[in-house]
Amino acid sequence: MDTQTVLEWSDRYLFRNYRRAAVAFVRGQGARLWDLDGREYLDFVAGIAVTSLGHGHPVLVRAVCEQVARYVHVSNLYHIPEQAKAARLLAERSGLDRVFFCNSGAEANEAAIKLARKWAKAHRSPQAYEIVVAHNSFHGRTLATVAATGNPRYQQGFDPLPEGFRFVPYNDLAAAQAAVGPLTCAVLMEPVQGEGGVIPADPDYLRGLQDLCRQEGILFMLDEVQTGVGRTGAWFAFQRYGLQPDVVTLAKGLGGGVPVGAVLAREDVAAAFAPGDHGSTFGGNALAAAAVCAVLETLEAEGLVDHAARVGDRLQAQLRSLAERHPSVREVRGVGLLVAVDLEVDAGMVEAACRERGLLVNAVRPRTLRLCPPLVVSAEEVDQAVEILEQALGAVGDPAAAGGVGHPHERR
Ligand SMILES: Cc1ncc(COP(=O)(O)O)c(C=O)c1O
Repeated sequence: MDTQTVLEWSDRYLFRNYRRAAVAFVRGQGARLWDLDGREYLDFVAGIAVTSLGHGHPVLVRAVCEQVARYVHVSNLYHIPEQAKAARLLAERSGLDRVFFCNSGAEANEAAIKLARKWAKAHRSPQAYEIVVAHNSFHGRTLATVAATGNPRYQQGFDPLPEGFRFVPYNDLAAAQAAVGPLTCAVLMEPVQGEGGVIPADPDYLRGLQDLCRQEGILFMLDEVQTGVGRTGAWFAFQRYGLQPDVVTLAKGLGGGVPVGAVLAREDVAAAFAPGDHGSTFGGNALAAAAVCAVLETLEAEGLVDHAARVGDRLQAQLRSLAERHPSVREVRGVGLLVAVDLEVDAGMVEAACRERGLLVNAVRPRTLRLCPPLVVSAEEVDQAVEILEQALGAVGDPAAAGGVGHPHERR
């Protein structure tokens, strides 16, 4: 199939719910992707913080292939060694006691919301059901998680939304304190607002929220769907911040691209779900669980969590020095390998100009680029990405040059 046919068939047969770039990928290796026309790209999107081990990592490839050959799925009616092992690896690394597996970030948050409500009936009050969430947050696209998402853009047209979410400004502890009342059962926060433009929480804010939850006897829940599994240079962002959440949700990087989500919880909180209270047909099946084990063991064996911290610092340092040279870069921020660049120019145009030059980045906001490469990215690849970004910024600043520069990895 050629690129034109892929674009035509996509346009003809798929829902039009995504804004897609006119490129079709067919192969990846490490932090690089190749399109149908043989062009090579540095992948600083990583499937939106998903392909933690990069593309085609031999350990993940072997684990998934061997698992498919043995069996893919048997149902949560039975025990399977892969899921038991994946749960143990997550519990050991997080310090939380129990794991529920599902298939995505939205499902993990949906489960956490249900868990908090069920827990509150027994431990807080039968009436408590409200969850305090932040403006500018993103928690998913199911009805409950979109209702918990602090951005009306995702909610419009889907009313009536489930009720029970109290919105507060992010990084404003007094507002959270004022929002907690007898009906509150939990606080749900991202340690770094990812879709909101990579906005890290102030450490004092998160510690203050944790204290507030302890004082009030409500659950402190962190959405680590984007920040978890090494992305911030720690196994989990809450460890960087020195926190002890009651519930943590994960997805994205957890399966290295194989769809899987998880809820981690303290023993007494997990106990709120009795048999039959919640479930998922596919959740934690043998294929997904084998991928989780391969990802977690490889991150450890190859020291990739520390690597993410080091190479993330380098990325931010390089971008800061670019900011000194380039007036269209307003701010650089981030944690580990979750990094944002605020621009004075249209981020979508810079994203396109980067792609033309062989670098994938994502315009997460109209004037903000997000860079979240795989955790295996090398220092040289980081330097190369910043060089391409500099050329793209130059081209967007100088529209005559924008279309004139060829793709550096042309392989036709
Ligand atoms: C913090 C956060 N929570 C939840 C989600 C939803 O995850 P999914 O798209 O896997 O449902 C996302 C996705 O971007 C996210 O960044």
